[in-house]
Amino acid sequence: MKPLKILMVSSECVPFAKTGGLADVVGALPLALEKLGHQALVVLPLYSAIDREKFQLHEELSPFGVWMGNCQQWCAVYKSEVAGFATYFIEFEKYFGREGYYHDELLNDYVDNAERFGFLSLAALQLCKAIGFDPDIVHGHDWQGAVAVAAVRDWYHSDPVLGKAAGVLTIHNLAYQGLYDKSAVDYLGLGWQNFHSDRWESWGQLNLLKGGIVAAHWVNTVSPTYAVETKTPEFGCGLAPYLNNRGESYWGILNGVDYAQWTPETDKTLVATYGAKDLKGKALNKKALQARMNLESDPSIPLIGVVSRFAPQKGLDQLAEVIERIVTDMRVQFVVLGSGNKALEAFYGGISQRFPGKIGSSIGYDDSVSHLIEAGSDFFIMPSLFEPCGLNQLYSLKYGTLPIVRATGGLEDSVIQYDEVTGAGTGFKYYDANPTAIYYCVGWAVSTWYDRPKHYRKLQQAAMAQDYSWDRSARLYVEMYLKALGK
Ligand code: ADP
Ligand code: GLC
Repeated sequence: MKPLKILMVSSECVPFAKTGGLADVVGALPLALEKLGHQALVVLPLYSAIDREKFQLHEELSPFGVWMGNCQQWCAVYKSEVAGFATYFIEFEKYFGREGYYHDELLNDYVDNAERFGFLSLAALQLCKAIGFDPDIVHGHDWQGAVAVAAVRDWYHSDPVLGKAAGVLTIHNLAYQGLYDKSAVDYLGLGWQNFHSDRWESWGQLNLLKGGIVAAHWVNTVSPTYAVETKTPEFGCGLAPYLNNRGESYWGILNGVDYAQWTPETDKTLVATYGAKDLKGKALNKKALQARMNLESDPSIPLIGVVSRFAPQKGLDQLAEVIERIVTDMRVQFVVLGSGNKALEAFYGGISQRFPGKIGSSIGYDDSVSHLIEAGSDFFIMPSLFEPCGLNQLYSLKYGTLPIVRATGGLEDSVIQYDEVTGAGTGFKYYDANPTAIYYCVGWAVSTWYDRPKHYRKLQQAAMAQDYSWDRSARLYVEMYLKALGK
């Protein structure tokens, strides 16, 4: 097969900029594609928080002019090689020289987000022309990359560099659609003739994700089950008809794991490394985690971990309703790491004082603590109301930390339900999204720990043997790229 050239437009990418799983995916997929012989180039905003020295950014093009729909903007382009694939950064102080990526400290979206990320998209396309990179695929991630996917079709179909490219859109989360004021239409060159409910418009506003869904040659989301769910009114966030309209050109591809970062045998952030054959190191991580979170130091008490954005999707308000009952009724500990919603920050931040020794929490974002929680916990809970894929349950499996999850989206696809008769499975799933269901599912997991320890160990071995490496998923992306090119 002829190697493919892929331009990716994203708002996040590990190791440069991360708020969630999108960054893990965009940091790993290009490497997996390169291993298969393809070439990926990633374009990101140069946020002021990105450490230019650490990531060895160097100026590539300056000044760099970007044609918008109704004007030209001047910016600069930087480049880094540290990720193992070519990463370009668009430097534009007016849009990216701020503390947050998408919102201010009070979680208010920046009102010019459509302009900011539409500009990123158009700058990425123009960069291809400037450096002579003629992509086969323009791959936009979420609403932030949607304008690139649409523009390559609308504007550049006869361009000598971009003309052959097919547009592919990956939906990491349908709940975030990029709904902003329609005043950005001229600036982004979307065309008022396209500002109607079957393209860029929703309830009088600009809907960037919808425009990308309609324009792309192929669309995917990040798990097969979420692909099915999003075609229903319950999970479709108003866009189900547009996803249904796509027919076979809307797929689900489960995310992979970058095992170079997430393997207990080699994880340098841990207190001790370990593997399925020798779990002594896991016990040391549990001890360290209990100490760090001021929990009673006792290996016999099952410890349940949480690492999450505090967003409505994650169901942590439901867990909040029962966590006190759980630690009162059961001999079990919790550790919670997360940030986001202020009410949940206050709740989880305060609860460790009310249940000292039983619940430990850390409010904030901390990569090394997240690794310690994966390694040191016995169970990992994700009570999501919906979950496009979810990465932490995949990390948990590898770390021998049994997932307790609501059976939705990628959680349904990646966790195999425990069979109490045979001891088969890799975790514990419940179906109804409510606090009572969480209570009973946690109870089931905890009773397995105490009453069926052989089953716990069997589940743990099965979990650690699961393979969600990117190789398989990347092959499916290549298959999708070829289908998109065929359209
Ligand atoms: P989402 O992208 O919806 O937040 P995922 O499960 O796909 O959910 O990915 C979340 C990623 O972000 C994981 O790598 C997880 O470890 C990380 N993460 C989330 N919250 C925190 C936090 N407070 N500190 C460190 N890492 C976090
Ligand atoms: C989104 C989803 C999450 C998914 C991640 C990466 O943030 O909420 O489920 O794993 O994107 O695709």
